[in-house]
Amino acid sequence: MKVTIVGAGNVGASCAEYIAIKRIASKVVLLDIKEGFAEGKALDLSQTATTLGFNTQIEGVTNNYEATQNSDVVVITSGVPRKPGMTREELIGINAGIVKTVAENILAHSPNAVIVVVSNPMDTMTYLTLEATGLSKNRVIGMGGALDSSRFKTYLSLALGKPANDIQGMVIGGHGDTTMIPLTRLASYNGTPVSQFLTDEALEKVAADTMVGGATLTKLLGTSAWYAPGASVAYLVDSILHDQHRMIPCSVLLEGEYGQRDICMGVPCIIGRKGLVSIVDVQLNATEQDAFNKSGDAVRAMNEAL
Ligand SMILES: NC(=O)c1ccc[n+]([C@@H]2O[C@H](COP(=O)([O-])OP(=O)(O)OC[C@H]3O[C@@H](n4cnc5c(N)ncnc54)[C@H](O)[C@@H]3O)[C@@H](O)[C@H]2O)c1
Repeated sequence: MKVTIVGAGNVGASCAEYIAIKRIASKVVLLDIKEGFAEGKALDLSQTATTLGFNTQIEGVTNNYEATQNSDVVVITSGVPRKPGMTREELIGINAGIVKTVAENILAHSPNAVIVVVSNPMDTMTYLTLEATGLSKNRVIGMGGALDSSRFKTYLSLALGKPANDIQGMVIGGHGDTTMIPLTRLASYNGTPVSQFLTDEALEKVAADTMVGGATLTKLLGTSAWYAPGASVAYLVDSILHDQHRMIPCSVLLEGEYGQRDICMGVPCIIGRKGLVSIVDVQLNATEQDAFNKSGDAVRAMNEAL
């Protein structure tokens, strides 16, 4: 099973590392435009194989798409990350050109690959990739909701003082500081609604912290985060390659689901070998649906700007 990661920067390299450590694929190709950079990252990562006990072959290449031939999954992380004070949306101009060219190159060499889009603004980049490649909607998946949900569960675990792996929760909507929707009503601590343990104010704070989770890290680190984004991509790739049918919130083309059409946005998806298997229709209440509609308006405005 072969995975190509375009962009060997912070997120791309961290994703390659988790794919290898978790033995998700037998081969990972890292591709970057910066001369020698992907080669260096791949060599460094390969030298952890004996200490960490994995056999994944990691190859780095500079803009050589021949090496990506016949990948099962291709992850696009190429582009510019956020700097402190920037929104994801401000990256649109630069990243659109990069993502479009990369998507076309990928398809020419891996006609059957499932494409995972990570570059921001992710919902718009996913829509652009879908348009640029003409692929069916099951094969173009935006990763954002997996990361936002893991941040949500982390903040819930901190508020509850309970282990993160005992918490279930999902974030849907757009992958932006003001557009994502942490579904606090449906979050649970081992199947028990978290509202039984946390006040409304505490839950509102968890939701607010989740929404600015990326910006908080960008401020602390001086650039956007990579461990949790890389791990979230690896988690998604695992479900694709191993046909796990996990339910993961992903940005996919909506055709009437959740009241939206002709837009890519985060909704709960079943993810398997062919990419998107189906969209799960979680019953939203009126407040959540209203938030989803507003989120859709914002994502649509971004697509129009593009
Ligand atoms: N969707 C999410 O949840 C999420 C999370 C974190 C970051 N991101 C986004 O992912 C992207 C990457 O973030 P990062 O922190 O890894 O940035 P980074 O700067 O560390 O890495 C980006 C890499 O892309 C490379 N690149 C640029 N143009 C290229 C091209 N045409 N072909 C191949 N490689 C090219 C650069 O040389 C660089 O190495 C950003 O757009 C960031 O906003 C998304």
